[in-house]
Amino acid sequence: MNLILLGPPGAGKGTQAKLLSARFNIPQISTGEILRSAVRESTVMGVRAKGFMDSGSLVPDEVVVGIVEERLLKADCQNGFILDGFPRTIPQADALGQTLQGLGKDLNHVIAITVDTNELIARITGRRTCIKCGKGYHITFDPPKVDGVCDLCGSDLCQRDDDKEETLRMRLQVYDKQTEPLISYYTAQSLVRTVLGQGSIEDIQRSIINLVEERA
Ligand code: AP5
Ligand code: MG
Repeated sequence: MNLILLGPPGAGKGTQAKLLSARFNIPQISTGEILRSAVRESTVMGVRAKGFMDSGSLVPDEVVVGIVEERLLKADCQNGFILDGFPRTIPQADALGQTLQGLGKDLNHVIAITVDTNELIARITGRRTCIKCGKGYHITFDPPKVDGVCDLCGSDLCQRDDDKEETLRMRLQVYDKQTEPLISYYTAQSLVRTVLGQGSIEDIQRSIINLVEERA
């Protein structure tokens, strides 16, 4: 199963991708997480990406396309993958199409998650992530058992640098301008189905699984 999760910042792509990954035993490929890890490790790519990410802009296409091309070659993608946060521009989608063609693979599902803008802002500003294992939380909607501490590994939780409200507004604008057009792009390939991303995380997961299974 080769699946793309599309949606604005805070739509729940990462939250849902992790659950789908566990359920179908295929990897979640999050370009945002790969880039944040490169920033933390101060690799050449991380140093280059940081300024774009901190300002809420997109990292140049050739950087992220390279990341995904390399990742899709790994053995764990043989039975499928979940793309979370990629593609984000039409050139990225074109590049992905070519890469998959070269690998003899097809895209099976593009699930677009929709959420109201006010809810997106509330979600992003309350998001926290474990500094060690990366598990995501929300201070109100999905809180850890102990304030500021990861349920899974006991490490501290932190807030993403780009989750300040001002940067978030830029990310929302960038989504509307550069990423939203992908919905028409993939609709033209009869691949898009839409899920309302509001309600409980479990209910949304069930809706996505139903869509995937009805077209399996
Ligand atoms: P990226 O990391 O992809 O960020 P994003 O698209 O802005 O999306 P988010 O991770 O903020 O939101 P999400 O949809 O994953 O929501 P989540 O599940 O966390 O990208 C970051 C940056 O990297 C970009 O700005 C860009 O610079 C760069 N980048 C990445 N990919 C790129 C690409 N392809 N090309 C160029 N540049 C790229 O949920 C959010 C919060 O809500 C959490 O706290 C969660 O607990 C909570 N929540 C989730 N579901 C629910 C629910 N149903 N009800 C209540 N709360 C919920
Ligand atoms: Mg995410």
